Amino acid sequence: MENQSFAMKGGEGPHSYLQNSSLQRNAIEAQKKVIEEAIANNFNPIITHTQNPTNLICIADLGCSTGPNTFIAIQTIIQAIQSHYVPNITMANRDNMNLDRKFYKLFPSNKTLEFLVFFNDQVSNDFNTLFKNLPNYNLNNKTYFACGVPGSFHGRLFPKQTLHFVHSSASLNWLSNVPKEIMDRRSSAWNKGRIHCINAPKQVREAYEAQFKEDFESFLDARAQEVVGNGLMALQIPTTPDIIVESSDIDPSTVFELLGSSLMDMAKAGMISEEKVDSFNLPLFFSPIKGVKQIVERNEFFSIETMEALDLENFYAFPNANIFVSIFRAALEDLIEKHFGGAIIDDLFDRFTQKVLEFPEILNPNKFKLVMLFVLLKRKM
Ligand SMILES: C[S@@+](CC[C@H](N)C(=O)[O-])C[C@H]1O[C@@H](n2cnc3c(N)ncnc32)[C@H](O)[C@@H]1O
Repeated sequence: MENQSFAMKGGEGPHSYLQNSSLQRNAIEAQKKVIEEAIANNFNPIITHTQNPTNLICIADLGCSTGPNTFIAIQTIIQAIQSHYVPNITMANRDNMNLDRKFYKLFPSNKTLEFLVFFNDQVSNDFNTLFKNLPNYNLNNKTYFACGVPGSFHGRLFPKQTLHFVHSSASLNWLSNVPKEIMDRRSSAWNKGRIHCINAPKQVREAYEAQFKEDFESFLDARAQEVVGNGLMALQIPTTPDIIVESSDIDPSTVFELLGSSLMDMAKAGMISEEKVDSFNLPLFFSPIKGVKQIVERNEFFSIETMEALDLENFYAFPNANIFVSIFRAALEDLIEKHFGGAIIDDLFDRFTQKVLEFPEILNPNKFKLVMLFVLLKRKM
């Protein structure tokens, strides 16, 4: 099936992703230390002098959206690489300074590193807003050179063996498509009256799981061709715990249940047709951690260097229902508008806010069990 292009709300307006991505930004802040450590301990990509006469490091952010979070992630990566690279270093002073031999021997001693950053997202992403907000992008004084790369990361995006560092955050939970059997009235997986697999028959959940597996495997296969030997991939994936321990714990997909029931209320009130709701499903899946683990363990191209849940304690809070809803609105509005038209949007999100207010536990980060899983993979030689 052809990949569908869903993107976050563009522009800089009150409902834009730019203004409503604090949840994702908190996870990017929380991963800073882990990325710095990953680069300090593990960054020794294969760079041959003939292939790379200018000491060019190529970094890609896959699913970058419109900013500003992507800029923070890129800055962290570049600063960490720079702080481990000292131009004009000689073999002797490298050893004296106790610097990692593996990393420092890669670069010719008298050249400063240059960085080329590929910002990737779906073709419908608002790249203009992204480029307009590039920080410190002065004429003659750039920290890095920037390119936009449109297209789905489930397929190939770059030439073979060109990337030294790949980053992707809060994006791999987006599926390439809604699984087709859940849209088929004749299938036992037909997802009538819901927009997601939460609290749906097991066939619906299995269809989502299978789609996630297929997509994540395609992602790894494509990157295996594009990342140089020893190159790194830092993936931050929204997941759920394998088992929900406390009965008061809330599965993060409950959000989609509240949104789906707001749509069903509008159908019952005659504002949209029930068929329209039946034919709408979200291409999003929060995999249990073990699902991600199995896929990366089975792949033959990357070794797992780190896999850990990010500690979001100091970063993660939903101050109120409006902010909570606005984060999901920025992500889902365009998708919903494409299916139902724009006239229902304000009313739908007002109803959704009301449902969140009636279920305030969902705002409690100790109960809302979203786990931001950080996975560091290294391309095998
Ligand atoms: C929630 S945003 C995350 C943006 C940014 N990485 C951050 O952490 O704030 C998810 C992004 O993934 C992008 N995305 C989803 N599926 C994609 C795909 N198949 N290829 C490229 N980008 C994709 C969406 O368009 C969206 O911009």
